[in-house]
This record gives sequence, structure tokens and C-alpha cells, in this order.
Amino acid sequence: MLIKIRPDGIDLPLSSEITPRAVFESRRDFIRQLAVGSIAGTSLYEMANREAFAQTPGAQKLAAGTNPAYALMSEKKTPYKDATTYNNFYEFGTDKSEPAQNSGTLKTRPWTVTIDGEVKKPMTLDIDSLMKLAPLEERIYRLRCVEGWSMVIPWIGYSLSNLIKKVEPTSNARYVEFITLDDKKQMPGLRSPVLEWPYVEGLRLDEANHPLALLTFGMYGEVLPNQNGAPVRIALPWKYGFKSAKSIVKIRFLKDQPRTAWNITAPHEYGFYSNVNPDVDHPRWSQATERRIGEDGLFARKRKTLMFNGYSEVASLYSGMDLKKFF
Ligand code: MTE
Repeated sequence: MLIKIRPDGIDLPLSSEITPRAVFESRRDFIRQLAVGSIAGTSLYEMANREAFAQTPGAQKLAAGTNPAYALMSEKKTPYKDATTYNNFYEFGTDKSEPAQNSGTLKTRPWTVTIDGEVKKPMTLDIDSLMKLAPLEERIYRLRCVEGWSMVIPWIGYSLSNLIKKVEPTSNARYVEFITLDDKKQMPGLRSPVLEWPYVEGLRLDEANHPLALLTFGMYGEVLPNQNGAPVRIALPWKYGFKSAKSIVKIRFLKDQPRTAWNITAPHEYGFYSNVNPDVDHPRWSQATERRIGEDGLFARKRKTLMFNGYSEVASLYSGMDLKKFF
């Protein structure tokens, strides 16, 4: 990744880092509800920051109830403006501001997603049918970028496992590959050889079946803005952000581990697993701490990065594996 930030400086742990997550989240959530109240689903914090949460004028709304099992209520949501203007989407340029500026050319309708490979029921679905395959829910996830920053985003989607069940993987299927749109007419960044195109990512089948793996269609109550991966992306909160492929056109089930965009470009820096791990430094910088976007400023402290980004429920997927080797 083109890195401009070098994270350093460890801070005192947050209470979220020393209390079991489920306990502090339910406790803090309860206290927060009492303290700030909630008006038609909008907290006073959000009301006071109307500007920060102002959404794209005319954007299509996407209704979905919040799933409390996956709602990180104890941390402030990243202001919408930051989440939609500080992006990595190299198909639209490598500067953080470029995806928001350049992605107006992306046509998200009509859009189809083909699911094939080692499945008994291959299918091609138009995006609106894909969106209706399972009930949509809102999940508030942390996203930790390998560059040393993080955000807290209310995504809308459903567990990828719903789709996997529908296509019935064969007994040969061990991996899932996500292939994203590769169209120079719509994506000016494809003219640059910064990555091998299309942008491809992959997971082991058991990772893809983990309930946390979210097939994502929206955020902040509306359809995904183009710069965030419209019309469909993955959100994998326990992995570095680059595993969450945007603007997916094909999902392929495979016997063998797929080659992935960042791993092809710099295999010693970006492994296939890319689980958030404060104990495995990137060869060029530490992964021990992170900067929360939207909390910039002279006195903003860095947060300690948590193993699996705090999503310890995925640990059993990796039991017996040396996570320094399989980084
Ligand atoms: N998907 C595609 N197709 N192209 C990209 O350049 N960047 C990745 C990931 N998905 C990327 C992508 C990286 S590095 C990150 S950190 C996240 O998208 C950023 O998602 P966000 O902009 O919604 O925060």
C-alpha cells in the first residue's frame, strides 16, 4: 500500500481493551442509551453533529434494523463525511480523496454478480435480486486499515453464508475468490499499473462462512456510495481493510488458494490471511496502534490495536496455525 503514515506511540489501554467485549458493550450501550436518549433512532451525539452525519443528497435509502449482536455501540460512529471522503479504491485513484471525486462515472445499475466454480448451483443474479436473498441488517463494525487507521461504520447487508448456502459448494470447494469490476471506461485508475487488475481478494471457505463476513450493500442507512464499493462489497471486520473487496462482479469457489491483488504486488508485506494482529508488524511499520479517523487533532491519542481487531470470536478459525507465518 502507498503508505504515508507511520503509526507509533502506545497509549494506555481503553476500558474496551481490558473488559471482555460483550460485557462492556452491553453495559456501555445501556448507560449510553440512558445518558443520551435516542430520538427516532438518532442519538443526541448524531444530532449535535448533523453536519458530520449529513448524507449524500438524493441517495437511495436502505432500511435495515440494527442487529444488536453485531453493533459496536460503545464507540462513536465515524462521521459519514470522513467515511466517504477518505477511501482506498485504487480503481479511482491512489489519493484518499480521489475515489469520492472520481467515482461518479461508476454505473451501478444494471449490475450482475456471477457465482460459479466449485458449486452445484452456479448462478448470475442481478444486484436487486442479490440484495433480496436474505433480510438486510445493520451492523456497526470497526474497520482497521493496514496503513494504521480505523473507522467505525454502520454497514448494511447480510451474512455471506446465506449466499454460500444457496449455491451449494461441492466437496472440492475450499476457497472463495472475489473478483471486482475491471472497466477502464468507468474506472480511470485502471490506466495505472499500481496493481494487477482486476482487484481480486479471497478467503478460506470457513472464513467466508463465518457469520461476521458481511455481504454489504449499504452504509449509514443508504445504498453504498460509489467510493465505498457500490453496489456490493464485502466487510470483514477482523481482517485488514484490503481484504474487503469493493464493487464485486464475480464470486468463484475454488479448490486452491486464489492469488490476491496485494499479495501479488508485495507478497512479503501482504499475506493471504491479513488478520489484524498487533504482534505482527508490517515490514515497514508497527501494527501495534491505530489512529481513529475523525478523531484527528493535536490531542487525539492513538488506540492500541486489538488482536483480530477485537473480534475474538474468529480465533477458533485459526487454532493450531502460526499466525506469524500465516500473516
Ligand atoms: N476494493 C477494490 N476493488 N479496490 C481497492 O483499491 N481497497 C481496499 C478495500 N477494497 C480496495 C478495495 C482497502 S486497502 C481498504 S482499506 C478498503 O477497501 C477501504 O474501504 P473504505 O474506503 O470503504 O473505507
